[in-house]
Amino acid sequence: MSLLEVNDLKVTYAGSPPVQAVDGVSFKLDIGQNLGIVGESGCGKTTVAKTLMKLLPRPARIAGGSIRWDGTELLDLSPEALNAVRWKDIALVPQSAMNSLDPVYRLRDQIVEAIQAHDPMSKKEAETRAESLCQLVGIAPQRLNDYPHQLSGGMKQRLVIAMALALNPRLIIADEPTTALDVIVQDRILKQIIELQKQFGFAMVYISHDIGVIAETCDLVAVMYAGKFAEFGPIGDVLKRPAHPYTMGLKNAFPDIRHPHRLISIPGHPPKLAPPPTGCRFASRCPFATERCTSEEPPLVQVRPGHYAACHYVDKAEEMLNLAGNEATWNPESATRDTFASPMNGTSPHG
Ligand SMILES: Nc1ncnc2c1ncn2[C@@H]1O[C@H](COP(=O)(O)OP(=O)(O)OP(=O)(O)O)[C@@H](O)[C@H]1O
Ligand SMILES: [Mg+2]
Repeated sequence: MSLLEVNDLKVTYAGSPPVQAVDGVSFKLDIGQNLGIVGESGCGKTTVAKTLMKLLPRPARIAGGSIRWDGTELLDLSPEALNAVRWKDIALVPQSAMNSLDPVYRLRDQIVEAIQAHDPMSKKEAETRAESLCQLVGIAPQRLNDYPHQLSGGMKQRLVIAMALALNPRLIIADEPTTALDVIVQDRILKQIIELQKQFGFAMVYISHDIGVIAETCDLVAVMYAGKFAEFGPIGDVLKRPAHPYTMGLKNAFPDIRHPHRLISIPGHPPKLAPPPTGCRFASRCPFATERCTSEEPPLVQVRPGHYAACHYVDKAEEMLNLAGNEATWNPESATRDTFASPMNGTSPHG
């Protein structure tokens, strides 16, 4: 039994028509493991994060699936039972967390209050806990006397990460914890998170739109596109031998200090999810798409042990990867693209 087992999770936001923000997401996570979820804006990452804590905003509805936490179905828990799990067992660093600090309270007061709300202890004990958390993330405890606006963005972010650790949770969900920060501060915080994880051994779901950041922090990666996992597997294998053209495109779009390359962006935007397109959701942007891709939805299939991809042409992955490094491949106007896009009679992207 894994620490966290998510199965066929579906979440919609009410509307006419409803937004199918998460559609059939499944994964398992064990203690000490880090899963990165990567994908462009609007692909459903935050919705997954909030669903794991059952903290979805009002128009959202869990339309199906299961979230088993240490063998217990989270979706069946009463609000009281859920409250006992939140923060103590599973802690969330929300997106733009540093803005979640209350501007009118001194940091000490809000952190102490938050700790006491979840774990009955004296004010003195909670203060001692708050001070040691500060030290963990390299912030002088006297800064607790400040108001949030007196701290830099990076300090606030480190403080929010420290707060997630307050009750020694077994899982931390961190939603874009460093996105708003410059790369030097980001790098320092990432190293600190990895260090804290070594020390405390929690599992982590780490959300980012930056595949490079995920590569530094995670063992497993889920590449999310339009509410689904397009690819999932061990980070090294997925990055070295991606089997989904979307992963290939994401890799092209981010700088890699160790293997510098020309940045190539994926043309177009993710599709609307109200409702999602039929067939493969990436088809309209995929240089390798065939007619089959626009009509038939590809299932996630195993390409190597533990590595899955939802593409009809996983057996052509190597060929696609060779072409994906070429800028012309992604240009919708390009003749190079046409040579393999035109013979698309449903069997192969390359005729
Ligand atoms: N409160 C809401 N009401 C209606 N639709 C919503 C709501 N919140 C999110 N959505 C929609 O659900 C989809 C997924 O949004 P989500 O915030 O999970 O994406 P994300 O991957 O976290 O994006 P980002 O990288 O920008 O944070 C998007 O299409 C978004 O427009
Ligand atoms: Mg988000």
